[in-house]
Amino acid sequence: MKLNIALLAGDGIGPEVIDQAVKVSNAIAKKFNHEIEWTSALTGAAAIDAVGEPYPDSTHAVCMAADAVLFGAIGHPRFDNDPTAKVRPEQGLLKMRKALGLYANVRPTFTFPSLIDNSPLKRERIEGTDLIILRELTGGIYFGERGRKDDGDTAFDTCTYTKEEVVRLAKLGFEMAMQRGKKLCCVDKANVLETSRLWRQTVQAMEKDYPEVTVSYEFVDAVAMRLVQWPSSYDVLITENLFGDILTDEASVISGSMGLMPSSSIGVHTSLFEPIHGSYPQAAGKDIANPLATVLSAAMMFEDAFGLKEEAAAIRDVVNKSLAEGVVTEDLAGKNKAYKTSEVGDWLAANV
Ligand code: IPM
Ligand code: MN
Repeated sequence: MKLNIALLAGDGIGPEVIDQAVKVSNAIAKKFNHEIEWTSALTGAAAIDAVGEPYPDSTHAVCMAADAVLFGAIGHPRFDNDPTAKVRPEQGLLKMRKALGLYANVRPTFTFPSLIDNSPLKRERIEGTDLIILRELTGGIYFGERGRKDDGDTAFDTCTYTKEEVVRLAKLGFEMAMQRGKKLCCVDKANVLETSRLWRQTVQAMEKDYPEVTVSYEFVDAVAMRLVQWPSSYDVLITENLFGDILTDEASVISGSMGLMPSSSIGVHTSLFEPIHGSYPQAAGKDIANPLATVLSAAMMFEDAFGLKEEAAAIRDVVNKSLAEGVVTEDLAGKNKAYKTSEVGDWLAANV
């Protein structure tokens, strides 16, 4: 099979972790007789520096022409402390999500048996956790009307959802639940917010089409609590953009390292795969960042964008092997030898 993949490395540790995912993907392609054509394009602060905007048209064209997008990370501290900056790397991310129609962000959380004691949460609470948070990604308060009133001292952001937006996300959630534990949790704040009441009403009306799925409706504050108390009780959670942003960071703690969790964003035009961690500027250029989340994102890409399940399984197997044999970066090494980012990538590519 010929795989045409857009490569958006972005900022900070993005290029380093992307390099390892490319090495592993190329090794997989060799093993299973595929041909990958990678096309690199600029995004984030790197794109601002080069052409003045974080998601240039040329990058969009590369993404639209590709079968899938593999994404590193964006963000640079020089923008974070400058509230007056007119262009920001994050605007590129939001523009890209909208332009590619990436409406559903799939963020799985699971535990690795060999790393379970890395989690700040007690073993007996997290053992067996295998959940997916499905976050709506192109609507809600992220894309609502915002601004300042004339006095300059009053600011507003608005949250809007349409029934259609809820239906397409919830449909995906129901279908995923059918393939997994047949449990779906709709996370909202329906005791306060009108958009949440629309979500709840819409999902309730869809229940009859999926009689095998047990649906629960829970308030986001209660979910925030139960996620760390009893995460293994969840299967698939669906939620709006901002709640999903917050809950997925919280959930990443369960696995013991931000450096491990992959994600995909399902889109109207194409799908995008990226680690859930950010650009981690403190580590940039040091060859110390954990590449596994990006490598596992490549596994999701093989499976979800191309239907190549065996290839994805081979990547997950070699990742598990590296964890079991202690071929890991410093975040996971403890008192043992820490490997460099590039060494982990080389090892994985040599052992697939
Ligand atoms: C994420 C990030 C982004 C978001 C930021 C960088 C805009 O936190 O992908 O979760 O809030 O969606
Ligand atoms: Mn986030």
